[in-house]
Formats: sequence, C-alpha cells, structure tokens
Amino acid sequence: MSVQIAPSILSADFAALGAAVAAVERGGADLIHVDVMDGHFVPNITIGPPVVRSLKRVAGRPLDVHLMIAQPDRYIEAFAQAGAAMISVHVEVLPHLHRTIHAIKALGVKAGVVLNPSTPVTALEQIAGDVDFVLVMSVNPGFGGQTFIARSTRKVAEVRAALDAAGNLDAPIEVDGGIDAGTAPQVVAAGARILVAGNAIFGSPDAERATRELRALANAALPVAAAPGR
Ligand code: DX5
Ligand code: ZN
Repeated sequence: MSVQIAPSILSADFAALGAAVAAVERGGADLIHVDVMDGHFVPNITIGPPVVRSLKRVAGRPLDVHLMIAQPDRYIEAFAQAGAAMISVHVEVLPHLHRTIHAIKALGVKAGVVLNPSTPVTALEQIAGDVDFVLVMSVNPGFGGQTFIARSTRKVAEVRAALDAAGNLDAPIEVDGGIDAGTAPQVVAAGARILVAGNAIFGSPDAERATRELRALANAALPVAAAPGR
C-alpha cells in the first residue's frame, strides 16, 4: 500500500482549475480534493456541483469531495451525479449519520466521515464499521494555509485503533490541514494513508514538482511492512 496524495484545489487559481488539475496529475496526484464550503458550517464560501461537474470532465483522477456544509443530505445526490468518487461529511452536523453514510454508498460513492479538531474519536464509535474512510481535520476547517494542530498526529493513531476495533481494517485515514514536508511523515507514521495538501502544493511555484516531492516523502515514512512493493 502506498500513501495517496490529494491536492486541494482550494489553494489553486480558480480561473485556471483545469491547468491546476493537470499539473498535479503530472506530479502523480492520486485524488483531487474538492473543498465545498457554504458560509454556514464554515465561515467561507467556495464551490458547488457545477464546478465538480466541470472538473470531472478534465480530471484523470477520482474527485474527493469534502462537504463543509450545514445540510449535506440535501446535496449528496447532486455531488454524486456531478462526478464525485468520494464524499465526506462532518459528524458535527449530522444527527442521522448512519442514514447519510448509507445514502452516499447507495449512490455508488465512497463514504467518509470527518472529525473536526475538537471532535472526540468516540464520535466514530457507532459508525466506524460502516465507513469507507475517515478524514481527520488537522486545522479548523474553512481556509487553506493554516498551521497543523500538533495533537492531530495522536488522533490519527486513535482513529486507526477505532477502525481496527470495528473490524474495518481496510478503511484508510485521510488527514487535511497544514500538511507539508514537515507534518506529512508524522501523520503517515501514525497511520494516515491519504494526505490532503493545498498550500504546500499550490502555494509553491511548481505544483507538479511539489506533488511529486510530497508523495515521495510520504511514502518514505511508511512503516517497512506497509511500504510499496511489499
Ligand atoms: C480546510 C480544507 C482543506 C484545505 C487544506 O478547510 O478542508 O482541504 O484546503 O489546505 P492546506 O493544505 O493549505 O492546509
Ligand atoms: Zn478539505
């Protein structure tokens, strides 16, 4: 198993998203991370299904859609139809999380749950066996370019233990927020297998190269037994 890199287009030039996607795909991006914000759950507003549909036409990699919105149930179908391969929803806004996760799966889309930095791992307890992946926020969602919250590394290990305890050994942990050359190896060592990076990739002068370098660094941090080719 190798670590997957999911560049977040939040930090790309929104007038040139096609070029941004092409650059990171040349650099070996495994997924394209799409941050959807509604100005309610988080203080920022970004994009909706029409942009996902346009990205789907140009992207050669699966679209990983992170819904930072107050009412995800209303929009899941639209994002699935627009071409999302993965949809993640925040546990903080969903009283019927089990229903939502199974609704995403019924659309043929991989379903993930997201934990904000202050949300305890115990929030996962009754859903850990149902999810396709878990996204651990390592910043408070809403903006790119924030500083990684150090405690997140330990939280990744705790989430891994919760998934394993539920028998969900294959569900990967994704980490989002402040991932760069310094933090990527730590979270991989703790069990993360999908790394989102916005500023570290699109804030660099060469997004293709930044993707390639982050991927190599992340894979080098894998425990020997999990390294690619073994
Ligand atoms: C934060 C978003 C992230 C963000 C990460 O609310 O969910 O995906 O783009 O950006 P960086 O890597 O710059 O912290
Ligand atoms: Zn995100």
